[in-house]
Amino acid sequence: MNAMNENNELQALRAALKVSPDNIPLLKVFATACVENWALGEAKSAFDKILELDAQDKDALIGLVQVLFQMGKSSEASVRIDALMSKYPKDPAVLLASAKIKSSEGDHRLAHEQYLEARSIDAAIQDGALEKELADAGFRVSSVSPSSDKNVLNTSAGWVQRDDDDDDEDEDEESAEDIEDLLDVENPQINFTDVGGMENIKEEIRLKIIYPSKNPEIYKAYGKKSGGGVLLYGPPGCGKTLVSRATAGEIKSNFISIGLHQILDMYVGNSEKNLHEIFELARNNTPSVLFIDEIDALAANRTDMRQSASRTLINQLLAEMDGDVSSNDGVLILGATNAPWYIDSAFRRPGRFDRIIFVPTPDEAARLEILKVLVKGVPVDKLDFKTLAKKTNNFSGADLQSMFDLAKEASLTRAMKENRVIPITTNDLLKQAKGIVPSSKAWFESAKNYALYSNQSGLYDPILAFLGIKK
Ligand SMILES: Nc1ncnc2c1ncn2[C@@H]1O[C@H](COP(=O)(O)OP(=O)(O)O)[C@@H](O)[C@H]1O
Ligand SMILES: [Mg+2]
Repeated sequence: MNAMNENNELQALRAALKVSPDNIPLLKVFATACVENWALGEAKSAFDKILELDAQDKDALIGLVQVLFQMGKSSEASVRIDALMSKYPKDPAVLLASAKIKSSEGDHRLAHEQYLEARSIDAAIQDGALEKELADAGFRVSSVSPSSDKNVLNTSAGWVQRDDDDDDEDEDEESAEDIEDLLDVENPQINFTDVGGMENIKEEIRLKIIYPSKNPEIYKAYGKKSGGGVLLYGPPGCGKTLVSRATAGEIKSNFISIGLHQILDMYVGNSEKNLHEIFELARNNTPSVLFIDEIDALAANRTDMRQSASRTLINQLLAEMDGDVSSNDGVLILGATNAPWYIDSAFRRPGRFDRIIFVPTPDEAARLEILKVLVKGVPVDKLDFKTLAKKTNNFSGADLQSMFDLAKEASLTRAMKENRVIPITTNDLLKQAKGIVPSSKAWFESAKNYALYSNQSGLYDPILAFLGIKK
């Protein structure tokens, strides 16, 4: 990887973070890339941000220790690693981090012990620089690898993403239980009537999975298979997740959602097998929908996929989507993302995500439908939906939701004072709308660049068309 690429990568990741600033997996990828490029200040901010979102995130805690250490803040790093060691004494990444810090503090004996233990738990761990340091102090480690600066950096960067296995007690209990953990079988109670507009997307889902299940003979007669892959992409807050969840209600129970965090947690160990079993579950319960939200974080188009486990996992996902292992007839794989440009192009080959649908901000007609959905359960006067839809140009569904939330709050405050329910009026809503900046603005700014300059085979033409830009 040359310096040029590194910069491009950081820039691309920064742009992605602008779009989804609270995306923890993305923040991790970014922080790792920063560490690799010695952008330590930025790496530290990214880890701090993750910890703001989830104070217990182990990867971030370990990453932060590493960055502090590399920044020369060794006493803070030392205090933090000791806390981590007492919480996760068997975690290889924690052990490795501790070994490095202990070694730098001159406690080579303890460092040696911790390093050997880390390696006995995770054979992939190797740190040339540390081994050399230990060897110089008289503590040899067998099978020393040739060390170079690059090697050291790579190993360090691996700290962040190499996942752990803190449940070593139940190692041999097989995956049946694990699979349950990985699945999100919450059975959403919503259906398409809870989603305003999005008619083309609803129809696509019906065509691929709902109609075929109702008329299997007709589909067979035309030699058509049901299921397949549909990828939804677009600005945040425009209903991708909502419509996917609502699909669950439409097709009743056979909806399986793979949580992104769970997938990322599968880096080590049984991950490929677990992924296979999730697909098997979907295949054994057709017609079914397998939903993967924020798929960009999993199917990442990163050239330096050093973490071989994640590359293997991607390959496994591709193989499962191809139906190499068993037929996917009747299984609809629904993916959603705000950042399609990070998805490996291999996912777009025929038989994988063969329908890629842009989910834009709703037009006036769609906003009218969304407003009618959102008004349910809100005390309102007779609303002028037409005017509201007209005056909320560029609003996403989520923005419309905030308009209602803000108006509700204001009304509640007054209601408490006056001791009566005060219905929300059209004007109340319009007043709130004025203060809302459409949240998709930043997304379109960066999407435009991808569509103009990185638009492989016209993939992002719908974005250009939506923006009214001629190629
Ligand atoms: N078409 C829609 N109909 C009703 N509500 C919507 C719609 N689109 C978005 N919303 C509101 O915005 C919220 C966020 O939408 P979401 O599906 O999470 O967006 P995305 O996944 O595209 O980022 C939803 O929970 C819902 O309250
Ligand atoms: Mg979403």
